[in-house]
Amino acid sequence: AAVLVKKLFLQGTMVTVNQDITYETAEEIALEFNFIVEPEVKIDVIEELLKEEEEDESKMVSRPPVICVMGHVDHGKTSLLDAIRKTHVTDKEAGGITQHIGAYVVSRGGQKITFLDTPGHEAFTSMRMRGANSTDIAILVVAADDGVMPQTVEAINHAKAAGIEIIVAVNKIDKPSANIERVKQELTEYELIAEDWGGSTIFVPVSAHTGEGIEQLLEMILLTAEMCELKANPKRTARGLVIEAELDKGKGPVATILVQKGTLRVGDPIAVGPCHGKVRAMVDDKGRRIKEAGPSTPVEILGLNDVPNAGEIFVVTENDKEARNFAETFISEGREKLLDDTKAKLSLDGLFSQ
Ligand code: GTP
Ligand code: MG
Repeated sequence: AAVLVKKLFLQGTMVTVNQDITYETAEEIALEFNFIVEPEVKIDVIEELLKEEEEDESKMVSRPPVICVMGHVDHGKTSLLDAIRKTHVTDKEAGGITQHIGAYVVSRGGQKITFLDTPGHEAFTSMRMRGANSTDIAILVVAADDGVMPQTVEAINHAKAAGIEIIVAVNKIDKPSANIERVKQELTEYELIAEDWGGSTIFVPVSAHTGEGIEQLLEMILLTAEMCELKANPKRTARGLVIEAELDKGKGPVATILVQKGTLRVGDPIAVGPCHGKVRAMVDDKGRRIKEAGPSTPVEILGLNDVPNAGEIFVVTENDKEARNFAETFISEGREKLLDDTKAKLSLDGLFSQ
């Protein structure tokens, strides 16, 4: 760490040990130490490998909306989800800071809604990079006592870049220092104009603590989702996204994935970037073992040979051999692309040093 901090300092970037740096900076620094940063390159390759195929309109049925909860640190994203689920996830988090994405399905009046909690902003960045299709609606959480903060703006930019609807949840309205009008005023600068201010953005004042406004927020989500007419074909082979993955000492690689199309079943051969395997077991967001998962369902799967990256696309293949082939092609194409990129970088560097 000290070496990296020094290197960055010498290049004119002042950072401390636990500070985030941009992907580009990381890539540049890594190259100077002869390391190649891989994920970004892999995205191009996987997108090449996974060209969107036409969907048969007649087989499309409506699916639950996938909602991404975003906003500045400590503005109450996880608390809001807790209030929605009436559980207590924040109690179990180390220091109350979200370190991974939680994925939850909530049922309201027979309609399902899938929520993705995001830590700060990082995870959503990689999800956004893998295509705007990952989520349908963003809930922008802004604390009424704090107002618009840097990561609020970043979240807005991500949602806009992904082209998804934004619903603003003005949280912590139970606090004496809460100022809902100020939040509305501040957000006008980012083209999020409340209906009572003459705009068309839905603002819902809420309190994760008292539960005020929660029902209304859910109503607005379902209303917005209805207008989006979200559909998927549950009968095709499954594909979707890795939300998070880790190596469990007992279980091996464990990946939380979001099924976006088709239905994923236990026993399906699966390829995820450089990893492949067979779905050995599936567990839903409530910890129950399940045999199949349809569109918009987040599930934890076991059976991969390695830990995939968050944001990676998964596909179900004909058979095990195809899954292995897919992973191998991914690895070899990824390598070639890496080499090309490095060459381009090196020649550019050469240019500047002359
Ligand atoms: P990160 O995941 O770290 O980005 O934070 P977060 O946005 O998920 O915030 P979190 O839900 O962990 O809440 C942060 C703090 O705000 C906690 O101490 C909560 O108890 C408090 N908080 C959240 N919602 C409310 C609310 O509606 N009212 C009040 N008074 N406090 C709240
Ligand atoms: Mg959180």
